[in-house]
Amino acid sequence: MTEPTAQWKSLQEELSSCVKCKLAITRNTVVFGEGNPHAKIMFIGEGPGNQEDLEGRPFVGRAGQLLTRIIENGMKIPRSDVFITNIVKCRPSVDMAMKKDRPPDKDEVVACSPYLLRQIEILSPRVIVTLGSPSTKFLLQTNLGITQLRGKWHSFRGIPVMPTYHPSYVLRNGGDSSPLKKDVWHDIKMVLDLLANPAE
Ligand code: URA
Ligand code: SF4
Repeated sequence: MTEPTAQWKSLQEELSSCVKCKLAITRNTVVFGEGNPHAKIMFIGEGPGNQEDLEGRPFVGRAGQLLTRIIENGMKIPRSDVFITNIVKCRPSVDMAMKKDRPPDKDEVVACSPYLLRQIEILSPRVIVTLGSPSTKFLLQTNLGITQLRGKWHSFRGIPVMPTYHPSYVLRNGGDSSPLKKDVWHDIKMVLDLLANPAE
């Protein structure tokens, strides 16, 4: 069943006109996230970039293409079968000119994260993959860096959480020949193993 529930649709509706933080001023589109509204796997990134802001879809730029390859070629799952979103739904940019991306500010995470929490509650995924620091730190309520957290199981309200490197970080550190790719693949394989052996 891929039809969204009424709750999901009303959350989507509410988000589309949200002005709860300063990112509302510079954004073009609120990026709710996309995929299967009943997905078993949820990926949570940092925030929309330029392309995402223009298209209203998450992970469609260069980092998104790498994530899509990980999901489709690596995990052998259609991208439309998982759910992909971000910790903030509007693009954080350095200034009004919107030339450069930046990580979300604390106040933006505080304003937007209740939406993410509602998405997690409604979706109730079997596993969450956090991509990079902001979503990992928020869900796990920790200040430890991604290098210490990745590759190990954590938990958010009883849901297994696997943090891994953000695809943009992989691209900035060697791209296709990056040594980080093997770490990401290690983490993703742990997710596949958990889904194959849910009792473990
Ligand atoms: N980076 C993110 O964290 N999210 C996106 O949607 C795109 C790039
Ligand atoms: Fe609202 Fe989140 Fe966009 Fe801020 S980032 S305006 S809280 S949807």
